[in-house]
Amino acid sequence: MVDITDRVLCKELRSKIVTAEEAAAFIKPGMSIGTSGFTPSGYPKAVPLALAERMKKDPFQINLWTGASVGPELDGALAAVDGIKFRMPYQTNKDIRKSINAGKINYCDLHLSESAQMARYGFMKGNKIDVAIVEACMITKEGYIVPTTSLGNAASYVKTADVVIVEVNTTQPLDLYGMHDVYVPDDPPYRMPLNVVAPDTRIGKPYIECPPSKIKYVVPCDIPDNARPLAASDDNARAMSSHFVEFLKNEVKEGRMPKNLLPLQSGVGNVANAVISGLANSDFEHMTVYTEVIQDGMFDLFDAGKLDFASGTSLTLSPDGQKRFYGDVEKYVPKIILRPEEISNSPEVARRIGVIAMNTAIEADIYGNVNSTRINGSRLMNGIGGSGDFARGGFMSVFFTVSTAKDGALSSIVPMVSHVDHIPQDVDVICTEQGLADLRGLSAKERARVIIDKCVHPDYKEQLNDYFKRACEATKNADTPHLLKEALSWHVNAMEKGTMKL
Ligand code: COA
Repeated sequence: MVDITDRVLCKELRSKIVTAEEAAAFIKPGMSIGTSGFTPSGYPKAVPLALAERMKKDPFQINLWTGASVGPELDGALAAVDGIKFRMPYQTNKDIRKSINAGKINYCDLHLSESAQMARYGFMKGNKIDVAIVEACMITKEGYIVPTTSLGNAASYVKTADVVIVEVNTTQPLDLYGMHDVYVPDDPPYRMPLNVVAPDTRIGKPYIECPPSKIKYVVPCDIPDNARPLAASDDNARAMSSHFVEFLKNEVKEGRMPKNLLPLQSGVGNVANAVISGLANSDFEHMTVYTEVIQDGMFDLFDAGKLDFASGTSLTLSPDGQKRFYGDVEKYVPKIILRPEEISNSPEVARRIGVIAMNTAIEADIYGNVNSTRINGSRLMNGIGGSGDFARGGFMSVFFTVSTAKDGALSSIVPMVSHVDHIPQDVDVICTEQGLADLRGLSAKERARVIIDKCVHPDYKEQLNDYFKRACEATKNADTPHLLKEALSWHVNAMEKGTMKL
């Protein structure tokens, strides 16, 4: 067992140091387990792996509540042994996705800003958290938990759980102390305003407070975060980034945005990362970030001297990004705050500070509805994550998508999306590699004209123009003209051709 006594400063807790197997043995069938972790960052690893081993021999299931997606040692390992009955509030794991779409896991897909409150109120399966398992880089002498590379819902789960297990991860540097700002709001009617007025405002503590008596076990762990490599930026991502930078320059020129822009939020993944990286080559300076995941692209901005501060709930880095961060951790930590996702994603804060929300769509329709989560209306991809928090809460909401999918066999701009996550009122701008549609202040029919004109791939322009024209004629120019049967047939045809599978 790795020696962690120098990281467990609370003497009372040193006697509770046990192996992952001993801690995992405490978990009983049907329990609801709330964990730290947000993306493959800051999630417990040793206890879930030991639990999965136990389930292999003696199958049973638990309910798993996390911050968002987590690394494969947690939900992946448990799904592989069919150990999850219920999962919330977001996921990206292919085994979990398969089980959800096969009806084997009940999935509660939530706005991430609301997930902690939902848990605190007992709306989730199991009503309450039996055990919280959280990753820490150290425990203070008072017994307080210093988190690692994410915060997610850890603080709320620790507060709500009957019992807490802390995994002390020795691969995480102690220099992380001071990077977190932990604040758990009271529930209505006692909730006070979240007094965050800029990305660098601190309102909480650098640790999660927890009475040592509530901590049942402390477990050593030397497994690092399972970072995912990022795909190299491609021509489509570069084109979207360049359209967006031009759009922002014009916003500044027109006096609608300050020279250093407004705080940026950016979704996860390659496109989002490429758009952020693109800003490193722009003339914008002294930018700030108020987001959910702090990705490699934001470190490009730090290193280019363009980014003053980044606030998020997790550091979601590729293996190269990890090297860069850990290689210069003392330089980066003072420029970063990690907050509970209830605060990082708070629509109240996003609206106050005027966040520019940038997220990715699976498909959008000609009127500006966006589907981010379900292929052909039925098959879950990941979940809404924080996109709804920021799209509704922010100052401006932008959705990016490549104009075609499945090697050009499908248009990502369709007459009517097969599932709606974001309504037109939450979609100000749509950007594809073809161009950018500024939808602000437009009527539904005006939106359709701009989206078809700017965003649609040339192979699908004629078809969509024709649909729109006939829909206008058939409905006598109704507010939002549709030929319902034909709109849905876009999705049905794709299924029948086998381009899209359920
Ligand atoms: N029609 C059908 N399928 C489509 C499609 C379309 N128009 N566009 C994409 N797809 C399929 C892709 O083929 C791929 O399928 P596969 O996994 O079977 O190969 C899948 O959808 C994902 O597409 P990809 O281009 O790899 O997506 P991405 O990595 O850019 O992610 C989302 C896009 C929307 C899935 C992702 O951003 C997401 O989960 N968003 C919701 C949560 C969110 O926004 N979080 C951030 C908030 S801070």
